[in-house]
Amino acid sequence: MAVPSAFIDELVARSDIVDVVSDYVSLTPKGGSFWGLCPFHGEKTASFHVLQDRQLYHCFGCGKGGGVLSFVMEVENLPFLDAARLLAKRAGMEFPEQDSNQADRRKRERLLAANKAAARYFHAQLHSPAGQEGLEYLRRRGLSKGTLTRFGLGFAPDSWDGLIHALGEQGFDKGVLLDTGLVVSNKKGGIYDRFRGRVMFPIIDLRGDVIGFGGRVMGEGTPKYLNSPDTSVFNKSRNLFALNLAKTTKLGRIVLTEGYMDTIALHQAGFDCAVASLGTALTADHAKLLSRFTKEVVICYDADEAGIQAANRAIPLLEKTGMKVRVLEVRGAKDPDEFIRTYGREAFARLLEQSENFVEYRLGQLQSKYDLGDPVKKTEFARAAAEMLSTLDSPVEREVYAGQVAETTGVGKDALLQEIKQARELHLRQAKKKQLRRDMTPMAQAQPRERQLRYENLRSARAEEGVLRLLMLDPSLEAESGGLEPEQFSSQHLGKIFRVLRERLRQGRPLQLGMLEGELEGEEVRLLAEILRQPEALEKGRQAMNDYCAVITAEYTKRNETDEAALLAARDRFQKKKSIGDGTP
Ligand code: GTP
Ligand code: MN
Repeated sequence: MAVPSAFIDELVARSDIVDVVSDYVSLTPKGGSFWGLCPFHGEKTASFHVLQDRQLYHCFGCGKGGGVLSFVMEVENLPFLDAARLLAKRAGMEFPEQDSNQADRRKRERLLAANKAAARYFHAQLHSPAGQEGLEYLRRRGLSKGTLTRFGLGFAPDSWDGLIHALGEQGFDKGVLLDTGLVVSNKKGGIYDRFRGRVMFPIIDLRGDVIGFGGRVMGEGTPKYLNSPDTSVFNKSRNLFALNLAKTTKLGRIVLTEGYMDTIALHQAGFDCAVASLGTALTADHAKLLSRFTKEVVICYDADEAGIQAANRAIPLLEKTGMKVRVLEVRGAKDPDEFIRTYGREAFARLLEQSENFVEYRLGQLQSKYDLGDPVKKTEFARAAAEMLSTLDSPVEREVYAGQVAETTGVGKDALLQEIKQARELHLRQAKKKQLRRDMTPMAQAQPRERQLRYENLRSARAEEGVLRLLMLDPSLEAESGGLEPEQFSSQHLGKIFRVLRERLRQGRPLQLGMLEGELEGEEVRLLAEILRQPEALEKGRQAMNDYCAVITAEYTKRNETDEAALLAARDRFQKKKSIGDGTP
């Protein structure tokens, strides 16, 4: 980061979050926090709140959350440094501008050159003996040679320094390698390749520059996908995979998928209008970006519950930009990639033609469950449809579709609208209750919203969250964490946050959410806000810290023992085989 972190610390300390948010949202104090209508999604009852003591904001509705800097980033739609500039102006602080624009530009160019060299290296590996495994994997997944070239797919060999060597020979030094995020430094100051034994998907921006990579394990293993971290040229919430290709499509619309493989499969089948987000939820920036190239977006997410929910969240963001939004459901397959491979491109083309606007699509789904020839079923359908329409926030839409349902069922439109109104009132009451309950029970929301943050070991992750919360609330408790190491965390994201917190503590710097926002990725800030939002009984802080640490250590040991046991078992099998082979009894 170009700005001294001490400046950010001071800036955040001087910018009270309630003050800043109040510039944009009318807040009402209630029960120890401040409530208002969320500025990030349309709503009629307040689910957005600000906790002054913890200096964070959070919305129950859309899941956004963070500190004062990320609030400004979100609400003003600005990158980190610009948000900091704006906030500095507001706080009457002079922003330490570097007169090194030229130097910055050179640095950026150097970084992009390194990324490009890395992409070339990975691609070359794919066609070398070292990359045979990767090539076979991609071919097995149905990708043609042409597709591999078109997307510049590659392979990162299972070595700690393959990339470091290759780029080093081309004159790229350690500093720029670290800047790309493709290389990671260890505690002793050494460096190693981030991506090992993975097939590589370069992510290319609209200018044609390689800005980052996604890497997939071949077969089972975690994490399934590893992405480059955000860097000065790579921002996951502002870029989309394959938009560089899809921007010139003649198909008149853009198809939005969740996965790299989905998008590649669609392109290979001739749908050159497919793009994918980069493992994070769709953002308003993504929507704006898409609207520069198309008037119509077709959401084509995975067929599972997570996919449906992600679609529900993406729709309002996309619609806000004035684009027409439709939803395509891949029936009979788990995702678009599998659909194309199972049913072929013609079947997908038909789905694409039929994809409907979201309300029509859901009404159609509902209607198919009722036999409209039967008067009783017809009334039941009308009631169910009213229930569904009651979830629409736009009164115009409710009116239009109520009219449609009235026509299909013969039930009066006024009666339907009355039913819808009652259902809405009921929902509001229920939502309030639910909010209250969620507020009371921190365990209720077991998993983070973002897919890439999902916990593999919930028990450990809970304790890890607890440690982070305690540290943030009372840094003196670090003394109680008894040598806990980030590596022992089951969630790499929580581990990373722990590392950042500990580093700051050791430097004697304060811990406040807003001050960490330059060092964490957007989704990590949101996660930390969510964690911090939950109650913690500080009077028993020491005991709690000890308990959390004990759980983490125990789970860590268990994991290692399982690995060990698996290793022993494998050795056992191997020796048995050998003895059979030897002919010895
Ligand atoms: P395949 O399993 O190879 O077909 O990939 P997919 O694209 O169908 O994967 P999936 O539907 O599970 O995930 C969709 C997208 O979410 C991926 O393309 C990634 O961008 C992201 N993703 C999935 N798993 C992980 C993960 O473990 N870590 C991170 N960072 N991102 C992930
Ligand atoms: Mn898939």
